[in-house]
Amino acid sequence: MTAITAAALALPGTGVGVVTARDLKPFRVPLAIPPVMSPVRRERNRDIYEVTMRKATAEILPGKRTRTWTFDGSFPGPTIEATRGREIVIRRRNALRVPTTTHLHGGEVPWRSDGHPGLAIAPGQTYEYVYPNQQEAATLWYHDHLCKHTSKNNYMGLAGLYIIRDEAEEELNLPRGRYDIPLVLQDRRFHSDGSFAFKDKVDDVLGDVYLVNGRPMPFLKVANRKYRFRILNASHSRGYRLTLDSGEPLIQIGSDQGLLAAPTPGADIPLWPAERAEVVIDFSKYPVGSRIVLQDAGDAIDPTAARPLMRFEVNREEDDTSSLPPVLRQIEKLLPLPGVVEREFVLRKNATGKWVINGKPFDAQRIDISPKLGDTEVWTFNNQSSVTHPMHIHLVRFQVLDRSNLQVSPTEMGWKDTVRVDPSARVRVIMRFDGFTGRYMYHCHNLAHEDHSMMGQMRVTGRSEMETTAVGGYVGSTATPALPYRCDIRR
Ligand code: C2O
Ligand code: CU
Ligand code: CU
Repeated sequence: MTAITAAALALPGTGVGVVTARDLKPFRVPLAIPPVMSPVRRERNRDIYEVTMRKATAEILPGKRTRTWTFDGSFPGPTIEATRGREIVIRRRNALRVPTTTHLHGGEVPWRSDGHPGLAIAPGQTYEYVYPNQQEAATLWYHDHLCKHTSKNNYMGLAGLYIIRDEAEEELNLPRGRYDIPLVLQDRRFHSDGSFAFKDKVDDVLGDVYLVNGRPMPFLKVANRKYRFRILNASHSRGYRLTLDSGEPLIQIGSDQGLLAAPTPGADIPLWPAERAEVVIDFSKYPVGSRIVLQDAGDAIDPTAARPLMRFEVNREEDDTSSLPPVLRQIEKLLPLPGVVEREFVLRKNATGKWVINGKPFDAQRIDISPKLGDTEVWTFNNQSSVTHPMHIHLVRFQVLDRSNLQVSPTEMGWKDTVRVDPSARVRVIMRFDGFTGRYMYHCHNLAHEDHSMMGQMRVTGRSEMETTAVGGYVGSTATPALPYRCDIRR
Protein backbone atom coordinates (compact mmCIF):
# COMPACT_ATOMS: atom_id res chain seq x y z
CA MET A 1 0.00 0.00 0.00
CA THR A 2 1.38 3.40 -0.84
CA ALA A 3 1.77 5.96 1.94
CA ILE A 4 -0.91 8.22 0.55
CA THR A 5 -3.45 5.43 0.31
CA ALA A 6 -2.73 4.27 3.84
CA ALA A 7 -3.19 7.79 5.13
CA ALA A 8 -6.41 8.22 3.23
CA LEU A 9 -7.83 4.97 4.57
CA ALA A 10 -6.99 6.02 8.10
CA LEU A 11 -9.11 9.12 7.69
CA PRO A 12 -12.45 7.90 6.41
CA GLY A 13 -14.80 10.55 5.16
CA THR A 14 -12.21 13.11 4.27
CA GLY A 15 -12.45 12.41 0.57
CA VAL A 16 -8.68 12.70 0.39
CA GLY A 17 -6.68 10.12 -1.50
CA VAL A 18 -8.01 7.30 -3.56
CA VAL A 19 -8.99 3.69 -3.05
CA THR A 20 -6.87 1.47 -5.26
CA ALA A 21 -7.63 -2.02 -6.47
CA ARG A 22 -4.99 -3.31 -4.06
CA ASP A 23 -7.02 -2.00 -1.12
CA LEU A 24 -9.91 -4.24 -2.13
CA LYS A 25 -10.05 -7.98 -1.74
CA PRO A 26 -11.43 -9.52 -4.93
CA PHE A 27 -14.42 -11.88 -5.02
CA ARG A 28 -15.97 -10.68 -1.74
CA VAL A 29 -19.24 -9.33 -3.08
CA PRO A 30 -21.82 -11.19 -5.16
CA LEU A 31 -22.47 -10.13 -8.72
CA ALA A 32 -25.56 -7.96 -8.92
CA ILE A 33 -27.82 -8.12 -11.95
CA PRO A 34 -29.43 -4.83 -12.94
CA PRO A 35 -33.22 -4.87 -12.47
CA VAL A 36 -35.38 -5.27 -15.58
CA MET A 37 -37.77 -2.36 -16.11
CA SER A 38 -41.50 -2.86 -16.43
CA PRO A 39 -43.64 -0.72 -18.68
CA VAL A 40 -46.18 1.58 -17.05
CA ARG A 41 -48.65 0.66 -19.77
CA ARG A 42 -49.00 -1.85 -22.55
CA GLU A 43 -50.82 -0.79 -25.69
CA ARG A 44 -51.72 -2.95 -28.65
CA ASN A 45 -48.49 -2.34 -30.60
CA ARG A 46 -46.22 -0.74 -28.08
CA ASP A 47 -45.13 -0.51 -24.48
CA ILE A 48 -44.84 2.75 -22.58
CA TYR A 49 -42.09 3.25 -20.01
CA GLU A 50 -41.40 6.13 -17.66
CA VAL A 51 -38.09 6.75 -16.00
CA THR A 52 -36.68 9.50 -13.83
CA MET A 53 -33.08 10.57 -13.96
CA ARG A 54 -32.12 11.45 -10.43
CA LYS A 55 -29.43 11.44 -7.82
CA ALA A 56 -28.99 8.35 -5.69
CA THR A 57 -26.40 6.67 -3.54
CA ALA A 58 -25.03 3.20 -4.13
CA GLU A 59 -22.92 0.88 -2.06
CA ILE A 60 -20.26 0.13 -4.65
CA LEU A 61 -17.30 -0.33 -2.35
CA PRO A 62 -18.21 -2.45 0.68
CA GLY A 63 -19.35 -0.22 3.55
CA LYS A 64 -19.08 3.03 1.59
CA ARG A 65 -21.64 5.26 -0.08
CA THR A 66 -21.16 6.63 -3.56
CA ARG A 67 -23.22 9.50 -4.91
CA THR A 68 -24.53 8.60 -8.34
CA TRP A 69 -26.71 10.02 -11.10
CA THR A 70 -29.08 7.32 -12.14
CA PHE A 71 -32.06 6.12 -14.09
CA ASP A 72 -34.63 5.35 -11.37
CA GLY A 73 -31.96 5.01 -8.68
CA SER A 74 -30.09 2.08 -10.19
CA PHE A 75 -26.33 1.88 -10.93
CA PRO A 76 -25.87 0.79 -13.68
CA GLY A 77 -29.30 1.68 -15.05
CA PRO A 78 -32.15 -0.82 -15.22
CA THR A 79 -32.20 -3.16 -18.21
CA ILE A 80 -34.85 -2.66 -20.85
CA GLU A 81 -36.01 -5.84 -22.55
CA ALA A 82 -37.45 -5.31 -26.00
CA THR A 83 -38.98 -7.65 -28.55
CA ARG A 84 -38.32 -7.20 -32.23
CA GLY A 85 -41.34 -5.70 -33.98
CA ARG A 86 -42.82 -4.15 -30.85
CA GLU A 87 -42.26 -0.44 -30.34
CA ILE A 88 -41.14 1.04 -27.04
CA VAL A 89 -41.80 4.59 -25.93
CA ILE A 90 -39.77 5.87 -22.99
CA ARG A 91 -40.56 9.12 -21.22
CA ARG A 92 -37.44 10.28 -19.45
CA ARG A 93 -37.87 12.97 -16.85
CA ASN A 94 -34.78 14.85 -15.80
CA ALA A 95 -34.76 15.40 -12.04
CA LEU A 96 -31.03 16.15 -12.02
CA ARG A 97 -29.60 19.64 -11.78
CA VAL A 98 -27.79 19.29 -15.08
CA PRO A 99 -29.04 18.78 -18.64
CA THR A 100 -28.79 15.32 -20.15
CA THR A 101 -29.74 13.47 -23.34
CA THR A 102 -30.03 9.70 -23.75
CA HIS A 103 -28.68 7.82 -26.74
CA LEU A 104 -29.66 4.24 -27.60
CA HIS A 105 -26.30 2.85 -28.66
CA GLY A 106 -26.73 0.50 -31.62
CA GLY A 107 -30.38 1.40 -32.04
CA GLU A 108 -31.99 2.12 -35.40
CA VAL A 109 -34.22 4.97 -34.26
CA PRO A 110 -35.59 8.30 -35.58
CA TRP A 111 -33.00 11.01 -35.06
CA ARG A 112 -35.06 12.96 -32.54
CA SER A 113 -35.03 9.84 -30.38
CA ASP A 114 -31.32 9.20 -30.91
CA GLY A 115 -30.04 11.32 -28.04
CA HIS A 116 -28.54 14.03 -30.21
CA PRO A 117 -25.95 15.89 -28.08
CA GLY A 118 -27.82 19.11 -28.76
CA LEU A 119 -31.30 17.82 -27.87
CA ALA A 120 -30.86 18.16 -24.16
CA ILE A 121 -33.50 17.50 -21.55
CA ALA A 122 -33.19 20.50 -19.27
CA PRO A 123 -33.61 19.98 -15.51
CA GLY A 124 -37.31 19.50 -14.82
CA GLN A 125 -38.12 18.64 -18.45
CA THR A 126 -39.41 15.39 -19.89
CA TYR A 127 -38.51 13.99 -23.28
CA GLU A 128 -40.15 11.10 -25.07
CA TYR A 129 -37.97 8.61 -26.93
CA VAL A 130 -39.47 6.29 -29.53
CA TYR A 131 -37.69 3.01 -30.24
CA PRO A 132 -39.20 1.05 -33.15
CA ASN A 133 -37.25 -2.20 -32.46
CA GLN A 134 -37.39 -3.26 -36.10
CA GLN A 135 -33.82 -4.52 -35.97
CA GLU A 136 -32.48 -7.98 -35.23
CA ALA A 137 -31.84 -9.28 -31.73
CA ALA A 138 -28.81 -7.66 -30.11
CA THR A 139 -27.38 -6.38 -26.86
CA LEU A 140 -27.65 -2.60 -27.06
CA TRP A 141 -27.18 -0.05 -24.35
CA TYR A 142 -28.38 3.43 -23.52
CA HIS A 143 -26.27 6.20 -22.11
CA ASP A 144 -25.96 9.95 -21.78
CA HIS A 145 -24.64 11.76 -24.85
CA LEU A 146 -24.63 15.41 -23.81
CA CYS A 147 -22.33 17.70 -25.69
CA LYS A 148 -18.99 18.04 -23.88
CA HIS A 149 -20.32 16.35 -20.72
CA THR A 150 -20.80 12.77 -21.84
CA SER A 151 -17.76 11.71 -19.86
CA LYS A 152 -18.97 13.15 -16.54
CA ASN A 153 -22.61 12.09 -17.01
CA ASN A 154 -21.64 8.51 -17.80
CA TYR A 155 -19.13 8.39 -14.98
CA MET A 156 -21.85 9.34 -12.52
CA GLY A 157 -23.98 6.44 -13.74
CA LEU A 158 -26.20 7.38 -16.67
CA ALA A 159 -25.89 4.11 -18.63
CA GLY A 160 -27.78 0.82 -18.84
CA LEU A 161 -28.55 -2.14 -21.06
CA TYR A 162 -31.20 -2.49 -23.74
CA ILE A 163 -31.66 -6.03 -25.00
CA ILE A 164 -33.63 -6.83 -28.14
CA ARG A 165 -34.82 -10.40 -28.56
CA ASP A 166 -36.33 -12.03 -31.63
CA GLU A 167 -37.82 -15.33 -32.70
CA ALA A 168 -34.88 -16.48 -34.80
CA GLU A 169 -32.66 -16.28 -31.76
CA GLU A 170 -35.20 -17.85 -29.40
CA GLU A 171 -35.40 -20.89 -31.68
CA LEU A 172 -31.71 -21.60 -31.20
CA ASN A 173 -32.35 -22.64 -27.61
CA LEU A 174 -29.26 -20.87 -26.29
CA PRO A 175 -29.01 -20.59 -22.50
CA ARG A 176 -31.82 -18.30 -21.41
CA GLY A 177 -33.55 -16.84 -18.37
CA ARG A 178 -31.35 -17.17 -15.29
CA TYR A 179 -28.57 -18.50 -17.50
CA ASP A 180 -28.47 -15.43 -19.75
CA ILE A 181 -26.55 -12.83 -17.75
CA PRO A 182 -25.33 -9.35 -18.68
CA LEU A 183 -21.88 -8.23 -17.52
CA VAL A 184 -21.32 -4.47 -17.70
CA LEU A 185 -17.61 -3.65 -17.36
CA GLN A 186 -16.59 -0.27 -15.99
CA ASP A 187 -13.46 1.06 -14.33
CA ARG A 188 -13.62 3.82 -11.76
CA ARG A 189 -11.50 5.85 -9.36
CA PHE A 190 -12.83 6.40 -5.87
CA HIS A 191 -11.93 8.86 -3.15
CA SER A 192 -11.37 7.22 0.20
CA ASP A 193 -14.86 8.30 1.33
CA GLY A 194 -16.36 6.27 -1.52
CA SER A 195 -17.18 9.17 -3.84
CA PHE A 196 -16.24 8.96 -7.50
CA ALA A 197 -12.94 10.68 -8.30
CA PHE A 198 -13.85 11.97 -11.75
CA LYS A 199 -11.56 14.24 -13.71
CA ASP A 200 -12.46 15.61 -17.10
CA LYS A 201 -9.49 14.68 -19.27
CA VAL A 202 -8.61 14.91 -22.94
CA ASP A 203 -6.72 11.66 -23.43
CA ASP A 204 -8.20 9.08 -21.12
CA VAL A 205 -10.37 8.60 -18.10
CA LEU A 206 -9.08 5.48 -16.38
CA GLY A 207 -9.83 3.95 -13.01
CA ASP A 208 -8.02 1.04 -11.50
CA VAL A 209 -11.04 -0.44 -9.70
CA TYR A 210 -12.80 -2.85 -12.03
CA LEU A 211 -16.58 -3.01 -11.67
CA VAL A 212 -18.91 -5.61 -13.11
CA ASN A 213 -22.57 -4.56 -12.98
CA GLY A 214 -21.55 -1.87 -10.50
CA ARG A 215 -19.71 -4.17 -8.07
CA PRO A 216 -15.93 -4.41 -7.56
CA MET A 217 -14.54 -7.76 -8.76
CA PRO A 218 -17.61 -9.76 -7.71
CA PHE A 219 -18.23 -13.51 -7.64
CA LEU A 220 -21.07 -15.47 -9.20
CA LYS A 221 -22.13 -18.93 -8.07
CA VAL A 222 -22.93 -21.03 -11.12
CA ALA A 223 -24.24 -24.51 -11.88
CA ASN A 224 -22.14 -26.94 -13.92
CA ARG A 225 -23.89 -26.09 -17.18
CA LYS A 226 -23.81 -23.58 -20.06
CA TYR A 227 -24.35 -19.88 -19.47
CA ARG A 228 -24.65 -17.02 -21.91
CA PHE A 229 -22.91 -13.81 -20.88
CA ARG A 230 -23.54 -10.50 -22.65
CA ILE A 231 -20.43 -8.49 -21.97
CA LEU A 232 -20.51 -4.73 -22.52
CA ASN A 233 -17.48 -2.52 -22.17
CA ALA A 234 -19.11 0.58 -20.68
CA SER A 235 -15.74 2.00 -19.60
CA HIS A 236 -14.66 5.45 -20.71
CA SER A 237 -11.24 4.74 -22.19
CA ARG A 238 -10.08 1.28 -21.20
CA GLY A 239 -9.72 -1.56 -23.67
CA TYR A 240 -9.81 -5.01 -22.08
CA ARG A 241 -8.40 -8.28 -23.30
CA LEU A 242 -10.70 -10.89 -21.81
CA THR A 243 -9.39 -14.32 -20.88
CA LEU A 244 -10.22 -17.10 -18.44
CA ASP A 245 -7.52 -18.00 -15.92
CA SER A 246 -8.28 -21.68 -16.60
CA GLY A 247 -6.69 -21.20 -20.01
CA GLU A 248 -9.87 -22.47 -21.67
CA PRO A 249 -10.89 -20.44 -24.73
CA LEU A 250 -13.90 -18.15 -24.50
CA ILE A 251 -16.55 -19.20 -27.01
CA GLN A 252 -17.83 -16.00 -28.58
CA ILE A 253 -21.34 -16.17 -30.05
CA GLY A 254 -22.15 -12.52 -30.58
CA SER A 255 -20.74 -9.03 -30.97
CA ASP A 256 -22.17 -5.50 -31.04
CA GLN A 257 -25.16 -6.21 -33.26
CA GLY A 258 -26.17 -9.71 -32.33
CA LEU A 259 -25.06 -13.22 -33.05
CA LEU A 260 -22.05 -14.21 -35.12
CA ALA A 261 -22.56 -16.70 -37.95
CA ALA A 262 -21.11 -19.47 -35.78
CA PRO A 263 -19.66 -19.92 -32.28
CA THR A 264 -16.03 -18.81 -32.41
CA PRO A 265 -13.48 -19.88 -29.83
CA GLY A 266 -10.82 -17.32 -28.99
CA ALA A 267 -7.86 -17.40 -26.64
CA ASP A 268 -8.72 -13.82 -25.77
CA ILE A 269 -11.32 -11.24 -26.69
CA PRO A 270 -10.25 -7.62 -27.11
CA LEU A 271 -13.09 -5.35 -26.02
CA TRP A 272 -12.83 -1.58 -26.43
CA PRO A 273 -15.25 1.03 -25.11
CA ALA A 274 -18.84 0.45 -26.27
CA GLU A 275 -18.06 -2.90 -27.89
CA ARG A 276 -20.05 -5.97 -26.86
CA ALA A 277 -19.04 -9.60 -26.85
CA GLU A 278 -21.44 -12.41 -26.08
CA VAL A 279 -19.90 -15.63 -24.91
CA VAL A 280 -21.08 -19.05 -23.82
CA ILE A 281 -19.14 -20.62 -20.98
CA ASP A 282 -19.77 -24.29 -20.38
CA PHE A 283 -19.11 -24.91 -16.70
CA SER A 284 -19.80 -28.63 -17.10
CA LYS A 285 -16.09 -28.84 -17.96
CA TYR A 286 -15.27 -28.01 -14.37
CA PRO A 287 -15.96 -30.13 -11.30
CA VAL A 288 -18.21 -28.68 -8.59
CA GLY A 289 -15.98 -26.58 -6.35
CA SER A 290 -14.00 -25.08 -9.24
CA ARG A 291 -13.36 -21.37 -9.41
CA ILE A 292 -12.74 -19.68 -12.74
CA VAL A 293 -11.64 -16.07 -13.05
CA LEU A 294 -12.66 -13.84 -15.92
CA GLN A 295 -9.73 -11.48 -16.26
CA ASP A 296 -8.25 -8.63 -18.21
CA ALA A 297 -4.95 -9.74 -19.69
CA GLY A 298 -4.29 -6.11 -20.65
CA ASP A 299 -1.57 -5.32 -23.13
CA ALA A 300 1.04 -7.29 -21.29
CA ILE A 301 2.67 -10.32 -22.82
CA ASP A 302 3.24 -11.46 -19.25
CA PRO A 303 0.25 -13.64 -18.21
CA THR A 304 0.88 -12.96 -14.52
CA ALA A 305 0.01 -9.32 -15.20
CA ALA A 306 -3.62 -10.26 -15.78
CA ARG A 307 -6.11 -8.50 -13.51
CA PRO A 308 -9.32 -10.10 -12.26
CA LEU A 309 -12.73 -8.83 -13.33
CA MET A 310 -14.86 -11.42 -11.56
CA ARG A 311 -14.93 -15.05 -10.50
CA PHE A 312 -17.32 -17.88 -11.33
CA GLU A 313 -17.74 -20.44 -8.57
CA VAL A 314 -19.21 -23.77 -9.66
CA ASN A 315 -21.28 -24.78 -6.67
CA ARG A 316 -23.91 -27.23 -7.90
CA GLU A 317 -25.00 -29.75 -10.47
CA GLU A 318 -27.90 -29.03 -12.75
CA ASP A 319 -29.38 -30.46 -15.92
CA ASP A 320 -28.79 -28.46 -19.04
CA THR A 321 -31.37 -28.55 -21.82
CA SER A 322 -29.92 -25.55 -23.69
CA SER A 323 -27.86 -25.94 -26.84
CA LEU A 324 -24.99 -24.30 -28.63
CA PRO A 325 -25.77 -24.93 -32.31
CA PRO A 326 -22.87 -24.91 -34.82
CA VAL A 327 -24.69 -22.34 -36.97
CA LEU A 328 -26.18 -19.29 -35.29
CA ARG A 329 -27.40 -17.23 -38.22
CA GLN A 330 -26.89 -16.29 -41.83
CA ILE A 331 -25.02 -13.02 -42.27
CA GLU A 332 -25.35 -11.34 -45.64
CA LYS A 333 -21.90 -10.16 -46.66
CA LEU A 334 -21.76 -6.55 -47.83
CA LEU A 335 -19.41 -6.13 -50.78
CA PRO A 336 -17.53 -3.01 -51.84
CA LEU A 337 -18.83 -3.13 -55.42
CA PRO A 338 -18.00 -0.38 -57.92
CA GLY A 339 -20.16 2.63 -57.21
CA VAL A 340 -20.07 2.47 -53.43
CA VAL A 341 -19.55 5.80 -51.74
CA GLU A 342 -16.11 5.97 -50.12
CA ARG A 343 -15.12 8.29 -47.33
CA GLU A 344 -12.00 8.71 -45.27
CA PHE A 345 -11.79 9.91 -41.70
CA VAL A 346 -8.37 10.96 -40.44
CA LEU A 347 -8.05 10.67 -36.68
CA ARG A 348 -5.50 12.77 -34.87
CA LYS A 349 -4.86 15.53 -32.38
CA ASN A 350 -4.69 19.10 -33.67
CA ALA A 351 -2.26 21.88 -32.75
CA THR A 352 -4.49 23.12 -29.92
CA GLY A 353 -4.57 19.67 -28.31
CA LYS A 354 -8.09 18.67 -29.37
CA TRP A 355 -8.92 15.33 -30.90
CA VAL A 356 -10.28 15.95 -34.40
CA ILE A 357 -11.74 14.10 -37.36
CA ASN A 358 -10.46 15.32 -40.72
CA GLY A 359 -9.01 18.32 -38.91
CA LYS A 360 -12.32 19.47 -37.43
CA PRO A 361 -13.50 19.54 -33.82
CA PHE A 362 -17.17 18.67 -33.25
CA ASP A 363 -19.68 21.41 -34.00
CA ALA A 364 -23.34 20.59 -33.41
CA GLN A 365 -24.35 23.31 -35.89
CA ARG A 366 -22.28 21.85 -38.72
CA ILE A 367 -23.18 18.93 -40.98
CA ASP A 368 -20.04 17.03 -41.96
CA ILE A 369 -21.41 14.46 -44.39
CA SER A 370 -24.75 13.62 -46.01
CA PRO A 371 -25.17 9.92 -46.77
CA LYS A 372 -28.24 8.87 -48.77
CA LEU A 373 -30.73 6.31 -47.60
CA GLY A 374 -30.30 3.10 -49.56
CA ASP A 375 -26.62 3.74 -50.36
CA THR A 376 -23.80 1.42 -49.44
CA GLU A 377 -20.72 3.24 -48.13
CA VAL A 378 -17.18 2.22 -47.28
CA TRP A 379 -15.53 4.26 -44.56
CA THR A 380 -11.80 4.25 -43.87
CA PHE A 381 -10.75 5.25 -40.37
CA ASN A 382 -7.17 6.41 -40.75
CA ASN A 383 -5.53 6.67 -37.35
CA GLN A 384 -2.67 9.13 -37.48
CA SER A 385 -2.09 9.06 -33.75
CA SER A 386 -0.34 6.73 -31.37
CA VAL A 387 -3.42 5.67 -29.39
CA THR A 388 -6.40 3.42 -30.13
CA HIS A 389 -9.71 4.98 -31.16
CA PRO A 390 -12.87 2.85 -30.83
CA MET A 391 -14.94 4.40 -33.62
CA HIS A 392 -18.71 4.26 -33.49
CA ILE A 393 -21.38 5.15 -36.05
CA HIS A 394 -24.97 5.85 -35.09
CA LEU A 395 -28.03 4.50 -36.97
CA VAL A 396 -26.24 1.88 -39.08
CA ARG A 397 -24.64 -1.47 -38.46
CA PHE A 398 -21.49 -2.29 -40.38
CA GLN A 399 -19.04 -5.04 -41.26
CA VAL A 400 -15.29 -4.77 -40.89
CA LEU A 401 -13.63 -5.19 -44.32
CA ASP A 402 -9.98 -5.02 -43.43
CA ARG A 403 -7.30 -3.69 -41.14
CA SER A 404 -3.99 -2.35 -42.39
CA ASN A 405 -2.04 -3.91 -39.53
CA LEU A 406 -3.78 -7.21 -38.82
CA GLN A 407 -6.19 -9.76 -40.16
CA VAL A 408 -9.79 -9.09 -39.23
CA SER A 409 -10.52 -11.45 -36.35
CA PRO A 410 -13.30 -14.02 -36.88
CA THR A 411 -14.99 -12.56 -33.81
CA GLU A 412 -15.33 -9.28 -35.72
CA MET A 413 -17.01 -10.93 -38.71
CA GLY A 414 -20.54 -10.24 -37.52
CA TRP A 415 -22.49 -6.98 -37.53
CA LYS A 416 -20.78 -4.24 -35.55
CA ASP A 417 -21.41 -0.65 -34.59
CA THR A 418 -18.08 0.15 -32.95
CA VAL A 419 -14.64 -0.81 -34.21
CA ARG A 420 -11.21 -0.56 -32.66
CA VAL A 421 -8.74 1.42 -34.76
CA ASP A 422 -5.23 0.60 -33.61
CA PRO A 423 -2.47 3.23 -33.39
CA SER A 424 -1.26 4.30 -36.85
CA ALA A 425 -3.59 1.77 -38.50
CA ARG A 426 -6.34 2.00 -41.05
CA VAL A 427 -9.63 0.10 -40.79
CA ARG A 428 -12.27 -0.10 -43.49
CA VAL A 429 -15.92 -0.76 -42.66
CA ILE A 430 -18.90 -1.17 -44.97
CA MET A 431 -22.51 -0.26 -44.24
CA ARG A 432 -25.84 0.32 -45.89
CA PHE A 433 -27.95 3.29 -44.88
CA ASP A 434 -31.37 2.03 -43.87
CA GLY A 435 -34.15 3.19 -41.70
CA PHE A 436 -34.33 6.88 -40.99
CA THR A 437 -33.25 10.26 -42.25
CA GLY A 438 -31.95 13.06 -40.06
CA ARG A 439 -28.98 14.02 -37.92
CA TYR A 440 -26.78 11.35 -36.43
CA MET A 441 -23.33 11.21 -34.88
CA TYR A 442 -20.19 9.28 -35.57
CA HIS A 443 -17.37 9.54 -33.09
CA CYS A 444 -14.65 8.00 -31.02
CA HIS A 445 -16.14 6.16 -28.04
CA ASN A 446 -13.25 6.90 -25.74
CA LEU A 447 -15.44 9.40 -23.88
CA ALA A 448 -12.47 11.67 -23.15
CA HIS A 449 -11.84 11.94 -26.88
CA GLU A 450 -15.53 12.27 -27.65
CA ASP A 451 -15.99 15.22 -25.30
CA HIS A 452 -12.79 16.81 -26.60
CA SER A 453 -14.20 16.80 -29.70
CA MET A 454 -13.63 13.70 -31.79
CA MET A 455 -17.13 13.63 -33.22
CA GLY A 456 -18.79 14.37 -36.52
CA GLN A 457 -22.39 14.85 -37.58
CA MET A 458 -24.08 13.37 -40.61
CA ARG A 459 -27.41 14.25 -42.12
CA VAL A 460 -28.91 11.17 -43.69
CA THR A 461 -31.12 12.19 -46.59
CA GLY A 462 -33.70 10.49 -48.77
CA ARG A 463 -37.16 9.18 -48.09
CA SER A 464 -37.51 7.51 -44.74
CA GLU A 465 -38.22 3.83 -45.26
CA MET A 466 -39.60 3.09 -41.87
CA GLU A 467 -42.96 3.96 -40.51
CA THR A 468 -43.35 4.78 -36.86
CA THR A 469 -46.17 6.31 -34.97
CA ALA A 470 -43.88 9.07 -33.69
CA VAL A 471 -40.30 10.30 -33.79
CA GLY A 472 -39.80 11.47 -30.22
CA GLY A 473 -39.55 14.92 -28.71
CA TYR A 474 -40.17 17.16 -25.75
CA VAL A 475 -43.28 16.42 -23.77
CA GLY A 476 -45.64 19.28 -23.13
CA SER A 477 -44.21 21.80 -25.58
CA THR A 478 -45.42 22.21 -29.13
CA ALA A 479 -42.86 24.57 -30.63
CA THR A 480 -39.45 23.05 -30.06
CA PRO A 481 -36.48 24.44 -31.93
CA ALA A 482 -34.43 21.86 -33.77
CA LEU A 483 -31.36 22.23 -31.59
CA PRO A 484 -32.27 24.07 -28.42
CA TYR A 485 -29.07 23.15 -26.63
CA ARG A 486 -26.18 24.69 -28.45
CA CYS A 487 -23.48 22.70 -26.74
CA ASP A 488 -21.76 25.71 -25.31
CA ILE A 489 -22.96 25.60 -21.71
CA ARG A 490 -20.24 25.50 -19.07
CA ARG A 491 -20.66 23.87 -15.71
CU1 C2O B 1 -22.52 4.86 -27.34
CU2 C2O B 1 -22.71 8.02 -29.80
O1 C2O B 1 -22.58 6.50 -28.50
CU1 CU C 1 -24.46 5.04 -30.73
CU1 CU D 1 -10.30 8.32 -29.71
